[in-house]
Amino acid sequence: MNIKSLYIHTIGCQMNVYDAEKMAAGLLALNYLPVASAEEADLILLNTCAIREKAEQKVFSYLGRLASLKNRKPHLIVAVGGCVAQQEGRRILERVPHVDLVFGTHAIGRLPALVGKIQRDRCRLVDVTMAEGFQEAASCRPQIFGGVSRFVTIMQGCDNYCTYCVVPYVRGREASRQPEQIIAEIEALVASGVREVTLLGQNVNSYGLKERLCSFSDLLARVDAVRGLARIRFTTSHPKDLSEHLIQAFGRLTKLCNHIHLPVQSGSDRVLKKMNRRYTRADYLEKVRRLREVRPDIAITSDFIAGFPGETAADFDATLDLIRQADFDGVFAFMYSDRPVAPAARFADKLPEAEKKRRLQTLLAVQDLYTVRKNQALIGTVQRILVDGASKKLGEAPLDDSPHAPQWVGRTTTNKIVHFSTADAAPGLAPVEPGMLIAVRIENAFAHSLRGRPLECQTPCTGVEGENSHAA
Ligand code: 5AD
Ligand code: SF4
Repeated sequence: MNIKSLYIHTIGCQMNVYDAEKMAAGLLALNYLPVASAEEADLILLNTCAIREKAEQKVFSYLGRLASLKNRKPHLIVAVGGCVAQQEGRRILERVPHVDLVFGTHAIGRLPALVGKIQRDRCRLVDVTMAEGFQEAASCRPQIFGGVSRFVTIMQGCDNYCTYCVVPYVRGREASRQPEQIIAEIEALVASGVREVTLLGQNVNSYGLKERLCSFSDLLARVDAVRGLARIRFTTSHPKDLSEHLIQAFGRLTKLCNHIHLPVQSGSDRVLKKMNRRYTRADYLEKVRRLREVRPDIAITSDFIAGFPGETAADFDATLDLIRQADFDGVFAFMYSDRPVAPAARFADKLPEAEKKRRLQTLLAVQDLYTVRKNQALIGTVQRILVDGASKKLGEAPLDDSPHAPQWVGRTTTNKIVHFSTADAAPGLAPVEPGMLIAVRIENAFAHSLRGRPLECQTPCTGVEGENSHAA
């Protein structure tokens, strides 16, 4: 068997991380096995992101760096997939002579056939055909990537057409995956040692509506019943579609983590309207209130765009005020970036880069006060951590113990990163392993992580089925 080497470089969101795995799984049929560096590869896949201009620029600078490698290794195949591939199609072949294949977001299932043809005919190909419905690709091979926590895509595309966003154009119409396929994939992951899954979609709360499958909360209940799975997360929820039924699932499902990512984008009704978000600031804050009523200690995170076209100082103040009222655990914020296919690119009153940057920094500085305060409030509490693996560093903690002791990293159910060292552990503690649920007392809090000490007395928790103490 002629084994070949595959290197995948992924830029962008969790959906791309998941897609990379599907690409690798499909290419196993052509005897490609993943390797750790581009230099060793016979096939390099660049998995691209078009959400902001910066991500798109990264694609072309990465491709530029591959020119000399291709010169040295003429048999090397260079392929570009993902959102920029879908958006630019043939233009990538014209612009970058050493690219052999451009394949779009709906072509992942056809990747093995495309690569096979290039191997045989040494031709250059483009496949950016889009189709209706959920595009199934090769089934995941848990053993390729391993790990404790994995993504599972449950929907593709988006029908919301927020005016700044490229996603509906590069990922196509919203399509939900059959629940049976989702459950089968999760069961296979769990059988290979995975303990946590994050269900992915641009707007998971509208799961199944169009195809009249089950509702998202019903799907969650089915995932909750998968034996051996410890934790469920999902992302992203659109606030307009966050139903009362789903809010109540947080009070009911034992494996559903204590965290929701609920992008708000702006605190100004005027800007929300121009963004076509279809909810008001009051609607949003009401959903936050209801979530906390059902799960008082739920962590809520959000996304913001700073400097949307026409955003006034008063609009921006309204955003800062919403941050203060919502009391988020953390936020991601981005400077508005024109996407040529999206309508906002043609809106008037664009803000200067310097002003967008200033607003972004102000927004992040205001949120940091809340993030740090929330993290500090955890000092002294006991948190159950799902151990991800060995930590290469001590996080943000000062070196207060032996730098040679094994360092571990995991997450709380609220998705906060916790570092701990087995040097801190009581002598009786069973050896720490990835995938363990372990009780840790939090001792230090930093801007983006926590540091803790494993408890002396661990209730047997490695096999825990569901750990949400709020669930009935
Ligand atoms: N400019 C800046 N940020 C954007 N996002 C999406 N499109 C743009 C854009 N054109 C942000 C939104 C979204 C996150 C994934 O990326 O905040 O929630
Ligand atoms: Fe883009 Fe809006 Fe769809 Fe999210 S909901 S992917 S921001 S169009």
